[in-house]
Amino acid sequence: MADSQPPRSPAHDPNAAINTARPGVHARPPGVRIIASGIAVPEKTLTNSDLEKIMDTSDEWIVQRTGIRNRHIHDPQKGDSVSGLATEALRNALQDAGMVPDDLDLIVVATMTPESPTPSVACRVTTKLGVRNIGAFDLNAACSGFVYALNTVFGLMATGAYRNIALIGADTITQHVEYSTYGRGSAVLFGDAAGAVILQRTDDPMPGLLAHILHSDGPGSKDLYVPTDERTLPEGVEYNPRHVNRVQMHGPAVFRFAVGTFPKLIEETLEHAGLQAADVDYYICHQSNVRILKAAQERFGLEDRQFPINIDRYGNTVAASVPLVFHELRQGGKIQPGQRVMFLGFGAGLTWASSLWQL
Ligand code: ACO
Repeated sequence: MADSQPPRSPAHDPNAAINTARPGVHARPPGVRIIASGIAVPEKTLTNSDLEKIMDTSDEWIVQRTGIRNRHIHDPQKGDSVSGLATEALRNALQDAGMVPDDLDLIVVATMTPESPTPSVACRVTTKLGVRNIGAFDLNAACSGFVYALNTVFGLMATGAYRNIALIGADTITQHVEYSTYGRGSAVLFGDAAGAVILQRTDDPMPGLLAHILHSDGPGSKDLYVPTDERTLPEGVEYNPRHVNRVQMHGPAVFRFAVGTFPKLIEETLEHAGLQAADVDYYICHQSNVRILKAAQERFGLEDRQFPINIDRYGNTVAASVPLVFHELRQGGKIQPGQRVMFLGFGAGLTWASSLWQL
């Protein structure tokens, strides 16, 4: 039987390809490059002074506790939607790559705020772009979604079956916040956006994933969840109709979770790759709170330029925040082939994840 099988290239022999020397590090043939990026944000903005007018808060409190000064908010009355933002971001990335939609083999959207259970945001994007027959699916890991999807997409690329994959992080989380003093604990944090990258297979085996980590803690969701009715509440939580479809967050508990897990995640990823913190050119982190980010940066003695922060202008944009930071670095000419970049996400689920790349 075995003799009748066609010969397999080493790149397709799973036993030959797996590097067992380091946990979390797997086959790297073929190489994968992130060749382009694009973003989209809604036109409407919401500054801290706008928020001061609609709830009991202050610019000083928000800046001190979160580092946020402005956010972009989608306006459904003007036709804004999560798939609209995702499509615009992808169009910008395609333009950056000098590609057309038909060049894509697959579209993946990381999102926790699809317009509806079905069709997926990814399928809506294919409709808006006028492409047919290519793969399209959504992935939900909340604020870690883009990083989860980056690892997933690399795995698909490693099979050799795809040449060009578009990955988009897109969320309109502000539909789940209450703009009043009652909802101020989370309302001041969030903004809407989309960020897209295009990944391309290359014969050069060097660029691609060096290490990745995915984690979750289901019971931890008691500190961060969006209930849809009384049956979807975490155990022990009393039903309040005012909370339905609104982000419920125990801010200090999520803060402690993030400050604790973030440095551990960086350490774990560096260990898997056999690298030191200073060997990584950029740490591209989910933008949740400037204090959480600064704590991690200081812990590893990293310079500001290695730890880019743009939360002041966009707030926490859930799955879009990591590609927003990446795109701004690329646009500023700071991303070069050969650099090492660690993408990091953490958020609802609870979930947290890393993806360390050699570009
Ligand atoms: N303006 C003014 N005062 C406020 C506001 C506000 N917007 N929000 C809360 N306060 C008050 C509280 O009522 C409280 O008052 P009290 O002491 O009189 O009771 C006081 O400020 C302190 O409240 P805390 O919640 O303890 O404030 P904290 O310093 O923890 O900051 C924050 C709150 C910013 C939410 C912080 O806990 C945080 O960033 N947590 C992490 C959130 C996060 O990262 N989420 C990411 C995941 S999101 C996702 O995955 C979808």
